[in-house]
Amino acid sequence: MTESSTTSKRLQGKVVIITGGASGIGESTARLFADHGARVVVIGDIQDELGESVASSIGLHRCRYIHCDVTDEEQVKSMVEQTVQDYGKLDVMFSNAGILSSCDQTILELSLSTCDRLFAVNVRGMATCVKHAARAMVDGGVKGCIVCTASIAATIGGDKHTDYIMSKHAVLGLVRSASRQLGEHGIRVNCVSPSAVPTPLMYKAYQMDAEGIEKAFKPLTSLKGEGLKVHNVSDAVLFLASDQSAFVTGHNLVVDGGFLPL
Ligand SMILES: NC(=O)c1ccc[n+]([C@@H]2O[C@H](COP(=O)([O-])OP(=O)(O)OC[C@H]3O[C@@H](n4cnc5c(N)ncnc54)[C@H](O)[C@@H]3O)[C@@H](O)[C@H]2O)c1
Repeated sequence: MTESSTTSKRLQGKVVIITGGASGIGESTARLFADHGARVVVIGDIQDELGESVASSIGLHRCRYIHCDVTDEEQVKSMVEQTVQDYGKLDVMFSNAGILSSCDQTILELSLSTCDRLFAVNVRGMATCVKHAARAMVDGGVKGCIVCTASIAATIGGDKHTDYIMSKHAVLGLVRSASRQLGEHGIRVNCVSPSAVPTPLMYKAYQMDAEGIEKAFKPLTSLKGEGLKVHNVSDAVLFLASDQSAFVTGHNLVVDGGFLPL
């Protein structure tokens, strides 16, 4: 754990679901949430071997892997129902699963089938997770928290990745609308928006390792020194998922070191 997050157990007894928890930001957040006293962290992902191994390394008494493809509403519904059935409630949903197309997806060359696949995960999948988490919280009378992973791409355009940028703008719309609709139930809905973080998603899309990603994106941030790391993002998610942000909803927490748009 980082020094900033060791002050207290901020999620004591909470029942949490993290989608995309087998890797990158989701994995780091699963570890942090478990360290902060979560009763259970349920990882929902499609990488079964990796998900099972992350859950085992965190400890099967406080972490569990469930196969869940967020593009399939039945799988999302069943993961949420199973969690409530086994642990009595759902306090926190970190809807984080997302993909980035490997082709450039400029508007002139936009592949609509690739775009559809990406939207199925980044937009429909995100909305499905928010929907079923919110239903479980409302039905259970839980004043829970929902955190989505957006991106700095949620508020700026770009030279490529048009489908991804559109999808992350949609996440912001989802968070803003859901937060207004769920406020009467005491449910908070926020999102975290990182700039480039070295994770497998970035290694694959840019064909670079962690060092290459850091080197490529460092000149674009005003805050100099170390580049953005997954634990910086997890710390922001922990803030949004805990009582420390008790009066924060509909917020887009940008974690970008002062990104300087091109
Ligand atoms: N890495 C970055 O620079 C960056 C920046 C801003 C936002 N994000 C967002 O952060 C989130 C996490 O990405 P990451 O960088 O940790 O990447 P990652 O590839 O390390 O992790 C993403 C996880 O999502 C899972 N996933 C993909 N499709 C899924 C599906 N259909 N159902 C369930 N799980 C699925 C993957 O198996 C993987 O474990 C994504 O929403 C991404 O868009 C990443």
